[in-house]
Amino acid sequence: MIPERTQVAIVGGGPAGLMLAHLLRLRGVDSVVLEARPRERVETRQRAGILEHGTVDALREVGADARMDEHGLPHDGFELRFSGRSVRVDMQELTGHRVMIWAQTEVTKDLIALRLSHGEPLLFDAEVLAVEDVETDAPSVRYRHDGAEHVLRADAVVGADGSYGPARRAIPEHLVGRFERIYPYSWLGILADVAPSSHELIYARGREGFALASMRSPTVTRAYIQVPNGTDAQDWADEAIWDQLSARFALDDGSFTLARGPITDKSVTPMRSVVTEPMRHGRLFLAGDAAHIVPPTGAKGLNLAVADVRVLAEALGEWFASKDETLLDAYSDTALRRVWRASHFSWTMTTMLHVDPDGDPFDEKLALAHLHHIEVSESARRALAENYRGLALGAV
Ligand code: PHB
Repeated sequence: MIPERTQVAIVGGGPAGLMLAHLLRLRGVDSVVLEARPRERVETRQRAGILEHGTVDALREVGADARMDEHGLPHDGFELRFSGRSVRVDMQELTGHRVMIWAQTEVTKDLIALRLSHGEPLLFDAEVLAVEDVETDAPSVRYRHDGAEHVLRADAVVGADGSYGPARRAIPEHLVGRFERIYPYSWLGILADVAPSSHELIYARGREGFALASMRSPTVTRAYIQVPNGTDAQDWADEAIWDQLSARFALDDGSFTLARGPITDKSVTPMRSVVTEPMRHGRLFLAGDAAHIVPPTGAKGLNLAVADVRVLAEALGEWFASKDETLLDAYSDTALRRVWRASHFSWTMTTMLHVDPDGDPFDEKLALAHLHHIEVSESARRALAENYRGLALGAV
């Protein structure tokens, strides 16, 4: 039975909502998670796969680390390629931290299984119709499940329902600041049954655009190429994708060969940056994609969502324990400082590595000058590495 009342109503059962539920439970705070989509959809949606150190810590804290430790791939560094050459950014050496390759789909599966094993409320196919009364101390969520309408009352509501979710609409339009950048290109992503050609990720600026070599396991390659907006993935033949990947990763000394294999999944992702401010209105708190979107080039989306809920769990825990609102009042500003840092980093990585179809030779020269600076300056590499592996909570 789903309770009609809880301490925190969480709208959205993606990684942000689920992680929050777990962190709250550790602080003795009850929650109910309402997810609009079926479980199968939540568990299979392909997203990025790089976990910052802080995200790994959070998975450990809630006890969702066993499969990650068994199958995740810790990476000490990554490569940048441009003008036919390569620069390695050694995060471990430059910052003392590394990242973990562990797909968001796997993170989500583990968080769901853990929630269900605790017997804690998590409802799929629960479509939220409205978040109400957030300006009072008795907010509620109206939702439809199994053909009937229900109301969940709570002390606080968290909107972790993605960029198109309904929670944000509970904030009056005139109080919301929206900052947006649409990029003039998209990513065509593939999954392929072939061992990764490099044991680290490669971010390349090729003459015809960006390419990324990533992986899901020692036998599964994940890769992306920059394509024009509006591209249909089915218009790209497998061999044409491999040809573009090979060309964009090519090194002048001929030392790199890309292994090809059967492509099992193809999809196109548009690229945009969005930040909405503030992330709180009354008893409603926004977290993750519901409040901000970053282009995937910096691998920050999931990590930002987890950072939001770490800050929020601490603040809600303190509030329920002592009625002290100081941390809750600071939540939006605290979270937004990291969001803007990550937005700037993701924008920098994106513009430095993509070829702007509307750009001119000046843009090209600036991007190459930036890459060259990273190549020759250890402090430039360190700054890049710090942002990529993620700044500690409180360090932003
Ligand atoms: C991925 O493996 O899907 C991936 C990795 C790094 C990124 C984006 C996506 O920056």
